[in-house]
Formats: sequence, C-alpha cells, structure tokens
Amino acid sequence: MSIKEISKLTSKKISKNLEIAEEYEKYVTKGFAFKYFPVAIVKTKGAKVWDADGNEYIDFLSSAAKYNIGHTNEYVVKAIKEGLENFIHYCLYFYHEPAVKFAKLLVEITPGNFKKKVAFGLSGSESCDHAIKASLLYTERPNIASFTYSYYGTTYATLSASGSFSPKLRKRIHALPNVYFFQYPDTYRCPFNLSEEECGEYYLSLIEDFFKSTIAGESFAIFLAEPIQGDAGVLVPPKNFMRGLRKLTKEYGIIFADDEIQAGMARTGKMFAIEHFNVEPDLIIVGKAVGGGMPVSAVVGREEILDSALPQTYFSSYAAHALSLRAAIATIEYILREKLAERAEKLGNHAKKRFNELKEKYEIVGDVRGLGLLLGVEIVKKKETKEPDRTSALKIIWRCWEKGLLMMTYGKYGNVLRIAPPLVISKEELDKAIDIIEESIKDVIAGKVTDEIVKYLRAWE
Ligand SMILES: Cc1ncc(COP(=O)(O)O)c(C=O)c1O
Repeated sequence: MSIKEISKLTSKKISKNLEIAEEYEKYVTKGFAFKYFPVAIVKTKGAKVWDADGNEYIDFLSSAAKYNIGHTNEYVVKAIKEGLENFIHYCLYFYHEPAVKFAKLLVEITPGNFKKKVAFGLSGSESCDHAIKASLLYTERPNIASFTYSYYGTTYATLSASGSFSPKLRKRIHALPNVYFFQYPDTYRCPFNLSEEECGEYYLSLIEDFFKSTIAGESFAIFLAEPIQGDAGVLVPPKNFMRGLRKLTKEYGIIFADDEIQAGMARTGKMFAIEHFNVEPDLIIVGKAVGGGMPVSAVVGREEILDSALPQTYFSSYAAHALSLRAAIATIEYILREKLAERAEKLGNHAKKRFNELKEKYEIVGDVRGLGLLLGVEIVKKKETKEPDRTSALKIIWRCWEKGLLMMTYGKYGNVLRIAPPLVISKEELDKAIDIIEESIKDVIAGKVTDEIVKYLRAWE
C-alpha cells in the first residue's frame, strides 16, 4: 500500500506532503511507525503549524505536549541565538554555567522542602531511566512498581517499566522481569459504580493487598507514577489515591517518583501536576516542555537518593547540553513571567465547559476529563454502555485535520481525543478549534467520513 493512495480519500492539497512522506517511508525504520496524517511540518509559530503544501493548522498536540510556551517562542529563540555564537556545548568533564543555573532553577521551583539535587538527561525516557537507576542503587532493593497503561519511554528499562506496550513486544524483547504493574484509577470506568473517593480507596487497597500477600512491599525500590496518566487517555486519579500512595510508599520505604514529563511545566494549571494533590515526591522527572523545543530532561529530587549513584551513573556526552539548557532556562523564566499556569487553568476551564456542552449534545461524547490544558474527550458508541469507539474517534481527527486542526487520539482503547494545545493559544484560536471538533463530530455522525481512512492512520490502539 503506497502512502500516496491517501490522496484518493481527501480533497485537501497534500501532494508535496506525500512526496516527503513517501521518501520517509523508504529510508526510516518502521520503529518510528506512528503516523497520523500525511503532514510534513515546515514552519511553526505560537499555536500554529504549516505543512509542505502551505496548509495552516491550529495545533492541539503541541508536538506531544512539548510547546507549552508556543512554537519558536521569541524569548527562547533569543536565548539560543545568544549562546550559539560563543559556546554550543562542552561535556561534563568540566563545569559550565548553564548547567548550574538550570539545576538551581529546578531545585527552586519543584515541590519538596528538603535538600535536592539534579541529574541531567536528553529525553524523558533517559531521565525515567535515571530515576530507576538511582532508586535501585539507593535502596539496594530489586523491584520496580509501575502502573498498567503507563508510559515512561523506550529505553530498555522504561520500555520494561511502561504498562502500555503489548505483551507480544514485552515477550520478544525480554522485558525486565522485576517490574510489577498495578491498576491506575479510572474514575470513568471504576468497577462497582463506586464514587470518586471510594474508587481511590479501592485501587489503593489493591496495591496494599499485593504488598501484604504477594510480593513484599519492602522489596520495591521505586514506584513510578504519572500524576495524570496521559497516554492512557488523560486519567486523573482521585486525590485520596495519590495521597494514599505517597503514604504507602513512605511506610514501605519505596521511592515515590513523579513523572511530570507530559503533565508538568504549567500544563495542568500548576507548575507540576502533583501539586494538585498536595504530595511531595522524592523524585520529580521533567522532560518535553522544559526544553522549549530543545532536547532537555532531568530528575530533581532528594539529594541522598541522587547522590547514591556512582560517578558515571548518569553520564552521557551531551548531558546538560549548554545551548539546550539556555533554552530551558529561558523557558522556565517565560512560564513564570507570563503566568502560564494560571492561563492554562483559565483556558482549560473554558475548553472543558465547551466540551461538556458537546457531551450533552452528542451521544458519542462519553466523557470529558483532565486539568488545565491537558484534556481528554472520550468517544464511545453509546453513553450508557461506554463501549469505546476508536473508529469514530479516528474519523473525527481525520475530519479535523481536513478542516485545519491537528489533533491525535490516544488512551487505553485508542478512542480519546487528545487536547493539549500550547498554553499561549489565544481564546479565539481555542474556540475555533473546538468549533472544528464539533463540525467534525457532526460529519462523522452523519456518515460523511469513510471508514477507509482508518487503515491509513497508524495510531495508538
Ligand atoms: C509521561 C511520559 N513519560 C515519559 C515519556 C518519554 O519521554 P521521551 O519521549 O522524551 O523519551 C513520555 C513521552 O511521551 C511521557 O508522556
């Protein structure tokens, strides 16, 4: 099947995009196989992107929650340009100031009233890996606790610790055997029709039971947790669950590592999503948006845990990449100066209200959830049965793409519309995008989008 066949299914002008896509398919491994639409990005600015055929889009994806400060943010571009002339990078055999400044900033802005330090990384996966290594070294315990449908990345340890890879892949790659998966609360589909609070208690009791009856809690080094499970479909856990988990990990001496890679950096209305729960993690992992578009990640947390590492534990040639860290420092300064957390909360409440109106109007909109501008809209066959409808969700995003909105699906069942625009998006752009979503829902219900498109979208399943 040639990618060019896709042009038969749309009247959109995409010939140049398709040429690039066809060459890409020829030379780039299938290991990067996720592809939604035949869009080759050539320009980005604020909350908008343009493709090779000159089509303009509002971006509801932010390159997977990376551009909280907007695409090619001028303040960040300036910082990069200033660094570029004199000093791109030198590896950490010596010292440099951007490393000091970035680490100090992270220590200052993260929750936790204790002595903290920082370990640098280049990707979210790498930093989750660092958190795992630090915990194993510090506790001298063998086991890793994680959640079903979680996502921590694709290094060997994070792939093993992520609950979102298929059992087939886990088996073929010989995923690490010392990872145990617990269920993350799903308040939309909580068993026994429990209330939110009961739901939190229920899921917590499953963990506690396991620690007492199956594998001793004292054998776990780390509990890796997303404060909101993004890729699982924006699952927001009940407050009592997160607080209970923190308490439980303390009781058993397990390191509580909070993965803020997707939810952090003001996206949910607070600088770090864990702050919604009044919980102080031992380790906080940042990535994606912290670099303002440059590859930067880090673990920040208790000094004694990160310092239990041997000197080479986190080392890599480009760690603390000086030019990228200039961008990261400017990004943090911009988020604080422009009060982007407050903006995310305000715009998020507005978007949620509008999506809830769509929920009232359309049978296939089953649930609207999330915090700030990390929102998920779940598409189902019928409200009553909650049966996931991945096909309709894909048809909706296809129609949105045709109408000038870039949006993806994800979630346990691949049926959740992923709403994560840059936090600098204007209210007008936000409203226009939601109008496009409503028009697309109507078109899908009216049967105006063919099922044929589904085979071209290599989306989350
Ligand atoms: C919650 C979470 N953790 C870790 C990662 C991995 O980050 P990266 O893709 O930068 O390696 C991601 C990426 O999507 C993520 O969403």
